[in-house]
Parts: sequence; structure tokens; C-alpha cells
Amino acid sequence: MKALVLAAGSGTRLRPVTHTGAKQLVPVANKPVLFYALEAIAEAGITDVALVVAPGSDDIKEAVGDGSAFGIDVTYICQDVPLGLAHAVLISREFLGDEDFLMYLGDNFVAGGVAGFAEEFRRSRPSARILLTRVPDASAFGVAELDAEGRVRSLEEKPEVPRSDLAVMGVYLFSPSIHEAIREIKPSARGELEITHAIQWLIEEDRDVRAALHTGYWRDTGNVADMLEVNRHVLDRAVGAIEGEVDSESRLTGAVRIAPGARVIRSHIEGPAVIGSGTVVTDSRIAPHTSIGEDCTITASGIGGSILLRGATVHGVPAVTASLIGRHTTVTSAPAEVPAHQLVLGDHTRVTLAR
Ligand code: G1P
Repeated sequence: MKALVLAAGSGTRLRPVTHTGAKQLVPVANKPVLFYALEAIAEAGITDVALVVAPGSDDIKEAVGDGSAFGIDVTYICQDVPLGLAHAVLISREFLGDEDFLMYLGDNFVAGGVAGFAEEFRRSRPSARILLTRVPDASAFGVAELDAEGRVRSLEEKPEVPRSDLAVMGVYLFSPSIHEAIREIKPSARGELEITHAIQWLIEEDRDVRAALHTGYWRDTGNVADMLEVNRHVLDRAVGAIEGEVDSESRLTGAVRIAPGARVIRSHIEGPAVIGSGTVVTDSRIAPHTSIGEDCTITASGIGGSILLRGATVHGVPAVTASLIGRHTTVTSAPAEVPAHQLVLGDHTRVTLAR
């Protein structure tokens, strides 16, 4: 069995962070969300993996390399134009050959991995097997309807009125029959070749399409709120480790991970929280569920429930919350003689200021 990981999405809902980097590399507890997917694939015993990336995804290639750090062998396939998930399969035909494969959307976070799901497929070898999970409102997802035996009766992509609360997760298992289905489908109203339509084609052809219900935690990390929530979920299960320097005037409570080379001076860190290497936290309070990346500088500030990417600076700002702060971004308080906000913001930035 091979694996196809899709990491070509542009991440419009995570702009401006995604103007300069792939959404799949936004860190959750200081580890790119894509790495959790690659670890899950390795754990499922799959080593032959292709990553479908957009043109110019040098950051992904640099971060993942040949995959050896994950115990997998990675091939890169460039999707020149974002024409849909099924289109990504179409352009990967040569890599996939006539083998079964696991398809994993690189922005999906699935707790508990996918090894059991892959194992069941290897045993029963249906045409396709999809992972479903119950959500309060399925209209933002592919939606499945099951028959009494639990077989998939129909699939719809982002319907206005969902027929069930069963959302299609971004993890699929396919036999080579999916290639036949993809050849038959036409682009959807949004101009994309939808994998949902290809699976629906298999259903209509009476092929064996099965579903597995995932009852654990799952999120599509496409927007800031979900990204912060996954960060919270992962941190809640993290164990503390103090490998950096913490001075005697600082206080750490709960599970706090301080990477080697990080320094904490006269500060209070309330876990769960992680502080990346090279970061210096001085005279500050870091509240729970905060991930501070590498080489950040936090001075005289308070930050909670947030993700800070590499090289960010926060100075003299007492209450930063629920924030995603991009690489080398600076947030400071205005000098006393300037009682106003001064902003230099990137394109598609969103700022919420306290009154
Ligand atoms: C894709 C699929 C959708 C699925 C979702 C899961 O949507 O088209 O069926 O429910 O992933 O993350 P997208 O997020 O690409 O719009």
C-alpha cells in the first residue's frame, strides 16, 4: 500500500501566514500539522509516500526532505493548478501504479492515527473505504448517508442541507478502481474534480464502498479557530520537559516544555505550554495553551491560548489571546506620547484590538 498526502491547498483562511508559507507547516505544539500526518502514515506501516504540493513549495520540501526522518520515502508531485482532490490523484497516477493507497489531506489532524483503518482495508479490500465522523453541522464537508448495514449509500460535497451528521474526514483508502471513477467524473460547480464525486460514481456502479466511524478527535485545520483548538488538544496531552534555562525568579506550573536554548527570566509560565529553542521570555506571563516557536522574544507581556511562529516579538502587550502570530512579526505597545494604534499589516491580516 502507498500513501498520497495532499499539501497543495492555498490556505486562504489562514492568510497572511499562508502568503509566505504552506498551511500544512503551521505548527501545532511547535510541530507542523503535516508532520502528525506523516507520523501516522509511517505508523500504519506505509513507507512509499507521495506529497502533492503547489508550485514553489520549497518550504515543504525543506521541512520534509526525503522523508527519512519519519522512516518513509517521499516523492514530490507538483499540482500546477488547484483543480481538486481527484485531480491530485489523476496527476499521481504513475506514482500510484496499480496499488491500493491511503489518501491523507495534509491539513487534517486525526487523533489516534490511521493504522487500524489501514489494517482493516488490507484485510477486506473493498473498492474504497472512507473515514466518517459526527459533527454538529456537516454542511462544510463531504456528507455521507449510510444504509442499514453501514455501507455508504450516498455522498454529497458541502450540501446546503446535509442528509446526516456524518462528515467525510480527509483520510481515504482506495483500490485502483478509483482511477476508473476519476476518468468518468466531470468538474463540479466550483470547477474542481471532487473525490466525493468519484466515490459516488463507485457507489452508483455498485462497487463495495465502506465507511469507518472515527469517534476520536479530528479537525480540519483550515481556519485559525480550528488551528488554535488543535493546539489546545495536543498541549493538553503533552508532558513537560525543562531543557532550556529558567531563572530562580521564574515560576512554571502545569506541563511546560522548554526547548534547549530557550530562556525564561522573571516570568510565569502556566502549562500546558511549549517554548521553542532560542526564544527568550522576560518579565512576562504565558497562560495555558500557548505554543511559542523558535527564536521569539517576549518581554513584559501576557500571552495565552495562542500560537507564535518562529522569530515573533511581543513587547509590552499585557493581554494577547486566541492569536496566531506569523514569522518575524512584531507586536509592541505604543509609547506613552502616542495614544493610538500604529499598524503595519500584511495583506489579508485581521486584527482585533481591545477597547
Ligand atoms: C475536503 C473534501 C471534503 C472533506 C474535507 C475534510 O474539503 O472535499 O469532502 O469533508 O476535505 O477535511 P476541503 O477542505 O478541501 O474543502
